[in-house]
Amino acid sequence: MLDTNKLTLSDYVFNQFKSLMFKESGVMLSNDKQVMVKARLAKRLRQLNLDSFEQYLHLVQSPDNRLEIQQLIDALTTNETSFFREAQHFEFLRARLASFSVTVPIRIWSAACSTGEEAYSLAMTVADSRCHPDWQILASDINSQVLACAGLGMYDIARAAAIPRRYLVKYCLKGVRSQAGQLLLSEQLKQHIRFVLLNLDGELPEIGQFHFIFLRNVLIYFNEVKRKQIIDKITGRLVPGGYLFIGHSESLRGITELLKPVQATIYQKC
Ligand SMILES: C[S@@+](CC[C@H](N)C(=O)[O-])C[C@H]1O[C@@H](n2cnc3c(N)ncnc32)[C@H](O)[C@@H]1O
Repeated sequence: MLDTNKLTLSDYVFNQFKSLMFKESGVMLSNDKQVMVKARLAKRLRQLNLDSFEQYLHLVQSPDNRLEIQQLIDALTTNETSFFREAQHFEFLRARLASFSVTVPIRIWSAACSTGEEAYSLAMTVADSRCHPDWQILASDINSQVLACAGLGMYDIARAAAIPRRYLVKYCLKGVRSQAGQLLLSEQLKQHIRFVLLNLDGELPEIGQFHFIFLRNVLIYFNEVKRKQIIDKITGRLVPGGYLFIGHSESLRGITELLKPVQATIYQKC
C-alpha cells in the first residue's frame, strides 16, 4: 500500500492546488495550509491508487474533469459545524418570529450549511415557534459530500448534547438496531428543507428571496474582494427588512451600506 507519509507536496504543486481552489470556489488557502492540503489529498491519492501529487494535479487539470474538481473541493473545504452553534442567533430568530406577520411562506437560507446541523437547528426553532403554517428552508453548500450527509439527517448521538431537550423530544428519534448510537431528524422537519449544491462565488441560481439568511463561518475563507461580491449577492436575496447572520469572527465593516447592524453579527436590510 502507498505510504503517503513518504510523499512530497512541493511548493509548486501546492500553489497549483491553491489556484484551482480559488478559481473554482473563491476559497483562499493560506500558505500555512500546506500540511492540511497534503493530508487531505493523500486520502484521495490512496483511493485512486496514484503515486504522487503531481499525478493527481495532472488528473484534476485534465479537461472536462468536473467530477474530480468536485472531489478536490470536497477534500479541501473545512466543514466544522454543530447544532445551535452561536445560540444567540437562534434566540434572536425565535424572538423575531414571535412578532412576524407575513402572508407569504417564511423563507430562510442556510447558505453554507455543511453537514446540515445549522439547517435543522433553524427548522426546529421555526417549527417550535408555530409562527406560521408555511415555511421553507434552503440549505446549500459547495461540498457535495457534506450536503449528502445533511440530506440524510442522521448524526452521531454525541452531537445531540447541544440540542435543547424540548426539541430533542419533539423532533428527533434515537436510532435502533443498525442505527444504534445515531440521532435521526424527523421527517416532519425534513419536508420543509431543500438541499442544494451551490457555489457562493458563482452566479446564484433562481432561489427567490429570503426573510432570514444564515451566512455563518464561511466569509473567513474569502479575500476582501470576494467577500464584498458575495455580500452584495446575498443582500440582493434578502427582502427589505430581512436579516443576515454571520459568524462570530466575521465582520461586514466597510463592505456594505445596505445592511445595518442590529446586534453583534446580525444585520438588517434597509
Ligand atoms: C465552517 S463551515 C460553516 C458551517 C455553518 N454555516 C456553521 O456556521 O456552523 C463552512 C462551509 O462553507 C462551505 N463553503 C466554502 N466555500 C464555499 C462556497 N464558495 N460556496 C458555498 N459554500 C462554501 C464549506 O463547504 C463548509 O461546509
